[in-house]
Amino acid sequence: MTLRDQHLRPLKNLRLSVTDRCNLRCQYCMPEENYTWFPHEQILQFEECCQLVDVFTGLGVDKVRLTGGEPLLRRDLHILVRQLAQKAAIKDLALTTNGLLLAERVEELSAAGLGRLTISLDTLRHDRFFTLSRSKKLDQVMEGIEETKKTSLAASLKIDTVAMRGVNDDEFIDLIEFGGEHGAEVRFIEFMDVGGATTWSKDKVVTRAEMLRTFEKHYGAIEAVPKKDSAPADQYCLPDGRIFGIISSTTQPFCGNCDRSRLTADGKWFLCLYASTGIDLRAPLREGASTEELQAIIGQAWGSRDDRGAEERLTLKERGRLASASDMRKNPHLEMHTRGG
Ligand code: GTP
Ligand code: 5AD
Ligand code: SF4
Repeated sequence: MTLRDQHLRPLKNLRLSVTDRCNLRCQYCMPEENYTWFPHEQILQFEECCQLVDVFTGLGVDKVRLTGGEPLLRRDLHILVRQLAQKAAIKDLALTTNGLLLAERVEELSAAGLGRLTISLDTLRHDRFFTLSRSKKLDQVMEGIEETKKTSLAASLKIDTVAMRGVNDDEFIDLIEFGGEHGAEVRFIEFMDVGGATTWSKDKVVTRAEMLRTFEKHYGAIEAVPKKDSAPADQYCLPDGRIFGIISSTTQPFCGNCDRSRLTADGKWFLCLYASTGIDLRAPLREGASTEELQAIIGQAWGSRDDRGAEERLTLKERGRLASASDMRKNPHLEMHTRGG
């Protein structure tokens, strides 16, 4: 069964946030001193996550990505991974992490059946890592990468770098080289004006075009790899055959074939990264709604989905941050770290 929205986009990909907490404070996502957290009792238990995932797979979802906050802060995450990995309907089970707790957890995640892993890493320099994330634990991320290389997840390892002018734009080549040394595909993400990016401004966005110019100057001619799927990243091939990616969410958004939706750790379902409201699935679930009833809620919402958030932002004359810090304190669902990046 394939649901289609107003633009005929199927529902295939669920980003499941397992916690709103994070152990970093990246400038582009969590620049504030204080945050409003979801109360413990509102967070979906693993059993509830699995129930909802079954509802989604029954409607055509076959890709699930676990996100946060920082998903490895969720205790016993490998148990959820094992439960999800056993579901035949899920063809692709992935996780996005900041890598801080990876070294001690990656083996159990791999053994539990996790299929793919993406690590967020914006800089290779200790001083910069601290400025960017308020943490001095870059070495722990590096250990996480080393430990990953000993597992089955090494083959699919990706590194996500948010590209920001004046912050890390002199490190792109170093990051590509680092990815090459560690067998990881590096993807550069244009800085987005979403959620906690209250410091966003247009001039801080390093565009895809600029990135490509930098790479061509250094490496020579770069070829675009023909796109096979609806993933946000476009792949490019360096003259020596190495592949890297660019996610041009800001200057060349990919809403046209967006098959993603996001479930927050407290069970709110968002149909677009930029959506102002989500649909509460926790309440009906806890009130005992049947699979059919939940599928009806989801089917109806997806059928009327008209969102093209990033494309709409592109049409604005004056573009600044999406929400203010005080709006987000009142409504933490507006935050990128609750929506799962
Ligand atoms: P793959 O299946 O490995 O391609 O994963 P992915 O790229 O979908 O997942 P990942 O978590 O690595 O996403 C990378 C980044 O792309 C996210 O953190 C966001 O910054 C951005 N991104 C992912 N999905 C969307 C989306 O639906 N809309 C927008 N605007 N940006 C997105
Ligand atoms: N712009 C681009 N990507 C962002 N992320 C979070 N905030 C932003 C933003 N403002 C994504 C990045 C990062 C992950 C944790 O969330 O991909 O690696
Ligand atoms: Fe999909 Fe919204 Fe992102 Fe566009 S902005 S790609 S519609 S999630």
